[in-house]
Amino acid sequence: MTILVTGANGQLGNEMCIVTKGSKDRFIFTDVCNEHPESLEMLHKLAGDDVDTTTTKLDITNLDAIRQIVKENDVKFIVNCAAWTNVDGAEDSEKYELVELLNAKAPENLAIAMKEVRGLLVHISTDYVFGGDPYNIPCREDQKGTPTGVYGLTKLHGEQNIQKTGVNHLIFRTAWLYSEFGKNFVKTMLNFTATKPQLKVVFDQVGTPTHARDLAKAIFDIIENRRYEGNTGVYHYSNEGVCSWFDFTKMIAEYSGHTACDIQPCHSDEFPSPVKRPAFSVLDKSKVKETFGVIVPYWTESLLTCIKSLI
Ligand SMILES: NC(=O)c1ccc[n+]([C@@H]2O[C@H](COP(=O)([O-])OP(=O)(O)OC[C@H]3O[C@@H](n4cnc5c(N)ncnc54)[C@H](OP(=O)(O)O)[C@@H]3O)[C@@H](O)[C@H]2O)c1
Repeated sequence: MTILVTGANGQLGNEMCIVTKGSKDRFIFTDVCNEHPESLEMLHKLAGDDVDTTTTKLDITNLDAIRQIVKENDVKFIVNCAAWTNVDGAEDSEKYELVELLNAKAPENLAIAMKEVRGLLVHISTDYVFGGDPYNIPCREDQKGTPTGVYGLTKLHGEQNIQKTGVNHLIFRTAWLYSEFGKNFVKTMLNFTATKPQLKVVFDQVGTPTHARDLAKAIFDIIENRRYEGNTGVYHYSNEGVCSWFDFTKMIAEYSGHTACDIQPCHSDEFPSPVKRPAFSVLDKSKVKETFGVIVPYWTESLLTCIKSLI
C-alpha cells in the first residue's frame, strides 16, 4: 500500500517520518517546499542515519498535481499534515482567501482525489473549531463547533468540505501541538525561561498540550493495523490531562531546569491579540480510545520526552 503524507516539513509531518520508519507500507513524504536543513539534523538525531528524509514537492491547492502523484504511485491513502497554522496571521483580512484555500479548499482537493480511487483521507483538524460557546466540560466530537477566529472557522470548513465529498475519511481534531520540529510554544518558552528573569503567561485559557509524536503514532497504528475499516469519521486526540498556558510554561521551566525565571499567571487581556482564543477547548478522547484502543500519554510525560530531545 502506498501512503502519501502532505506537509512533511511541519511538526506532525516530521513526526510521521519518524514513526513510519520500517513500515511494511510505502510512504511518500511531500510538502510545498524542500526539506528544512535544521529539521533534517533533528530527524537523523531522533530516527537514525538511515531514515529516508526525501521530500517530494506537492502543493495541495493544486488538484491536478494531487491527481498526478496519486495516479503515478497508486496512492490509496493520504495523511494531510499541511495547513495554515498561524492563528494570529489568519486574522489579516488580506489573507482570508489564502487561509480558506489552504485549510478548506485544499483538504477538499485531497478528498476528491481519494474518492476517485476509493482511498482513505486522514485529515487533521483543531480544538479551535470550538471556543465560541462557553463550554466547561471536555468537548465531544458531535458537539457544535463555533470558532472564535478565522483559523478555526477555515479548519471547520475543511472538515465540512471533506465530509461533503463522501470520501472515506478519518478527521483527528488535536490541540496545542508541539514537537522537536518547527516553531512552537515549547521551544519559545524554553528560550524565554532561559533568558528572561520574569515572565507572565495567561492562565485563563485551558486546554491540553499534544506532543505531535503521540498523534503520529496513533495515526500510524490505525493505518498500519487497518483499524479504520468500518470506523471512519471524526475523532479527538490530544494528550491526556488539562492545563493552562501558565501551567504548561511552569512544567517546561521545571523540566528544563530553568528555575531562575519567575513565572506569573496573567489574564489574556494583558496580551492584546488579533484573535480571541478559546477559554476552554479540552477535547474528550473517549471515542478514539474506545474505537481504536489507542494509548494516550499524560501531557507531562510527553513534554518530558520532547524536552529531553531538545536540550
Ligand atoms: N500547531 C498547533 O498547535 C495545532 C493545533 C491543533 C491542530 N493543528 C493541526 O495539525 C496539523 C499539523 O500542524 P503542524 O503544527 O504540524 O503544522 P506546521 O508545522 O505549520 O506544518 C504545516 C506544513 O504544511 C506546509 N504547507 C503550507 N502550504 C502548503 C501547500 N499549499 N501544500 C503543501 N504543504 C503546504 C507548510 O509549509 P511552509 O511552512 O513552507 O508553509 C508546513 O511544512 C494541521 O492541520 C493543523 O491545523 C495544529
